[in-house]
Amino acid sequence: MSVKKIGILTSGGDAPGLNAVIRAVVITAIRKYGWDVVGINRGFEGLLDDPSDSIISLGLRDVSGILPLGGTILGTTNRGHFAFSKEHPNELADPTVADKGIQFCHDNGIDALVTIGGDGTLCIGHELSKHGLPIISVPKTIDNDLLGTDYTFGFETALTTATNAIDQLRTTAASHNRVMVIEVMGRDAGWIALYAGIGGAAHIILIPEIPFRISSIIRHIERRQKLGYGYSLIVVAEGAKPARGEILYRGQEEGGMIRLGGIAKWLVDQLDDKCGQDVREVVLGHLQRGGSPSVWDRVLCTRFGSEAVHLIAQGRTGRMVSLRGTSIESIDIWKVVARQKRIPYNGDIVQTARGLGISLGDETEEMKIASNP
Ligand code: F6P
Repeated sequence: MSVKKIGILTSGGDAPGLNAVIRAVVITAIRKYGWDVVGINRGFEGLLDDPSDSIISLGLRDVSGILPLGGTILGTTNRGHFAFSKEHPNELADPTVADKGIQFCHDNGIDALVTIGGDGTLCIGHELSKHGLPIISVPKTIDNDLLGTDYTFGFETALTTATNAIDQLRTTAASHNRVMVIEVMGRDAGWIALYAGIGGAAHIILIPEIPFRISSIIRHIERRQKLGYGYSLIVVAEGAKPARGEILYRGQEEGGMIRLGGIAKWLVDQLDDKCGQDVREVVLGHLQRGGSPSVWDRVLCTRFGSEAVHLIAQGRTGRMVSLRGTSIESIDIWKVVARQKRIPYNGDIVQTARGLGISLGDETEEMKIASNP
């Protein structure tokens, strides 16, 4: 494949580190390979727009100073025309958009596309790749729920935000002898809740992979009270669900995308008056997606972005860059598309939490170690 110009776009919900990837792609493509680089505004939607509006040329000066910036200089969306069919979730609802996107790239001399995003982005990239467009995907999401990579970028920064919040809430919870419920993001995976919960020394962590029981939560709070611990911190993933009951979500979005949230408030309603303490909730929400990427994420983004360019140069497209152990590798997109990486029920991280006396809100736990301080 002879490459003269590559495109880059950011898609899906934003995450800290998008600009760091853009910067690495631009610098590597220009300095090492002498290619032109263009950015596509507004994610895949930009491929359907007037190119004079959606294409911007990206030179070395354009990416100077953007490494620490949160958000994305290219804009992004997790809604739009590249939605998947409700009846056939692996197919685009409007199959013509894939051809239009590819035509856009041909018309504008874009030989390959670097797409930075999460599961939705992977699915769209896979479709474009099947239709013949050389694609490299870069795994982004604070949720860390993509298969084929040990970590996605943005996750570590989101964890820092969530853990700092838990640290701050601990002192006010302790001062008032309260139960504090902290809702974090993550969709149907509990990575943010479990890691931030352990990192922030929470007492109860509720994740989608392990359905919880209110009775179990109350028992754990009572055990702590008997042991003289005046307060309790509960970290709950937005996608956590009761053992008998429905997942909670508010509203059904266009394109079949469910928006999660509200479980902390629901939990407060369940616990209030039952555990003999004031219960309060805090929803961290989009704070977890904002801000400057952590140093670890900056380095990961830079390695991912550089590798994406090298793969295009080697003609190894249709792939997602990934982190395996300490090495940057890549994997065929079709092997990871439309699948999710969730927390293994009996994995070491779950065992570690249980071993410390953290309640995961389920019945199976034998709380021999009565509580964690
Ligand atoms: O996938 C990233 C994520 O932040 C999820 O954790 C969350 O459920 C969702 O996006 C929120 O999306 P929106 O920005 O549309 O509210």
